[in-house]
Amino acid sequence: MKVSIIGSGAVGSTTAFSLAKTDYIDELSLVDLDQKRAKGNALDILHGLSLSHAVKINYGDYEQTANSDIIVITVGVPEKVGESRLVPLQRNATILQAIIPKITHYSPKGIILMVSNPVDILTYFAYKISGWPAQRVIGLGTMLDTARLNWLLSRDYGVAQTAVHGLIIGEHGDSQVVAWSQTSVAGTQFDTYVAGNKLTLATDYKATIAQQVKDTAFDVWKMKGPNAFCVALAIERVIQAIVRDEQAILPVSRPASKEGDCYISQPAVIGRQGAVRTVPLQLTSSEQAQFTSSLQAVETVAAQIEL
Ligand code: LAC
Repeated sequence: MKVSIIGSGAVGSTTAFSLAKTDYIDELSLVDLDQKRAKGNALDILHGLSLSHAVKINYGDYEQTANSDIIVITVGVPEKVGESRLVPLQRNATILQAIIPKITHYSPKGIILMVSNPVDILTYFAYKISGWPAQRVIGLGTMLDTARLNWLLSRDYGVAQTAVHGLIIGEHGDSQVVAWSQTSVAGTQFDTYVAGNKLTLATDYKATIAQQVKDTAFDVWKMKGPNAFCVALAIERVIQAIVRDEQAILPVSRPASKEGDCYISQPAVIGRQGAVRTVPLQLTSSEQAQFTSSLQAVETVAAQIEL
């Protein structure tokens, strides 16, 4: 299985290292405007592979991405601390217009996994520029936010993160929605778990958690710079589901309801053919209303950018 990673910064290089350690990736290609940086990251991993296992690692220009099964796009101007992820939009849309045609030329049967922000809109643009079917153009979406929610709830309830199955939908950004009705702890819906364990929640607990999820990215950024490890783990999880044809249900960014719609995060079935369909949710009316306004927020901004 071949994966190309466009962008060899903190996220791209960490993702390359993470994927090189798996047993299901045979070949990686690292591409960056700064070819020295891509080469340096490739060699940094290659030098250790006698201690791990064999993976072919290429670096250079887009011809190195030829016949990729998955192309991960991490390039782009990131948002600044405290800045909405929408600000870098126009700059990153312009970058996509330059690189997507090269990606589709060299890997006509590939799957794009967009990571750059604002991820929902950029994935939507990548879909439109590529001309590929929507199932083969996927955004990392709220995979990260959902993982952060799992961590926060595991912290508060003293259970393993793997025992928490949270769900965040909507924009990967300010208007995202915690779907508490779809969130469970130890297999029990959150509210039922709280009641069953006779726990008392502060009245603003859910709002506080929702804000903490949004803040974690910038909290970490202020300490060390861009988040990379959790991003790479989220990318690896989606890629594993594709490579192993898991039909896993993961919150990724794809068309809101039908092909051609603006992209937004909802649980989708992920396998070797990509994100093949969205899984319908029984949301509360409040959650549905929040999700609808999140979609409208993304659509409004997307409409302001001319491709
Ligand atoms: C974050 C960036 C990737 O949430 O948007 O860490």
